[in-house]
Amino acid sequence: MKVLGIETSCDDTAAAIYDSDGGLEAHLLASQVERHRPYGGVVPELAARDHVRALMPLVEQVMTDARAERAAIDGVAYTAGPGLAGALLVGASLGRSLAWALDVPAAGVHHMEGHLLAPMLENDPPRFPFVALLVSGGHTLLVDVRAIGQYSLLGTTLDDAVGEAFDKTAKLLGLTYPGGPAIAAAAQGGEPGRFRFPRPMTNRPGLDFSFSGLKTFTRNSIPTGALDEQTVADIALAFQDAAVDTLMIKCARAMAAAGRQRLVVAGGVGANSELRRRLRGLGDERDFRVYYPRPEFCTDNAAMIAYAGWARLRGGQSDDLAFSVRPRWPLTELSPVE
Ligand code: KG4
Ligand code: ZN
Repeated sequence: MKVLGIETSCDDTAAAIYDSDGGLEAHLLASQVERHRPYGGVVPELAARDHVRALMPLVEQVMTDARAERAAIDGVAYTAGPGLAGALLVGASLGRSLAWALDVPAAGVHHMEGHLLAPMLENDPPRFPFVALLVSGGHTLLVDVRAIGQYSLLGTTLDDAVGEAFDKTAKLLGLTYPGGPAIAAAAQGGEPGRFRFPRPMTNRPGLDFSFSGLKTFTRNSIPTGALDEQTVADIALAFQDAAVDTLMIKCARAMAAAGRQRLVVAGGVGANSELRRRLRGLGDERDFRVYYPRPEFCTDNAAMIAYAGWARLRGGQSDDLAFSVRPRWPLTELSPVE
């Protein structure tokens, strides 16, 4: 079964072809980063307009790259939520219309289920059950995953998502958007020990997170007057250490609480090499295996949407012609796949 996947939930326009026999056959992404950079964050209306311009040529190109004739497509998957309403509508309306024109079923995919299943595209994918740490610009979730669609929420953030904390901290430090990669790069030149940030909510039991305090801590750490490059690097390092440590402590707890042997880490912050290195070390120490998508499939992409859509279509699920998008959509509302 060959599925065309479409992703437009935020500021990346992406298309991919996943084939259940051939695997991932092609994937393309048009980033809007430069468009939003002057504003220091994503401007929803500009994102939607850019998706309108970029999406159809990208779909045509990905089909050419995969050498897929229109008639070979067996299903279309598009991100139906969560995300920016206007941006989601572009992908959903094009995806649903294409499916109608090609006379194939369509699947509206949950963006975070896409992230969660992204490691399935790698060699040696994780087996179920596992615990997933999903860390993106809008979400920080610890989920017990028994099978596709069988999710129990173990913990989530009470305020900012961890990616959001990276982005806001970067902005305070005068670094460019998106903040995650900018903080990671700046931290490389940082002196350890000059600043020490708290590890929020780790002193009490529980698996929930709170990241908004780290942003305040950054603000209070910035000296009055000019901010020199070394201080930016030192603060970036202290912030990244605190964020990574906090995620590590909660992952260790979640693995013990759920009694699982496998941890999946996905979402944009999962591209952070310090987080990847340290979680792998934790796994070695505590005897569990850690699975990641390649960094490129940690951040938004359509490969994961094509795969998740294929899993749902294979299970007999598809969407009506009267499609809808869900800017807010709890992962735990998804139905199991038979
Ligand atoms: O999954 P994603 O691409 O989009 C959403 O669904 O939100 O995640 C984007 C988030 C942003 O907050 C970005 O700053 C963060 O992931 N991010 C990183 C890194 N690369 C992206 N955070 C830390 N380190 C990175 N290397
Ligand atoms: Zn995402």
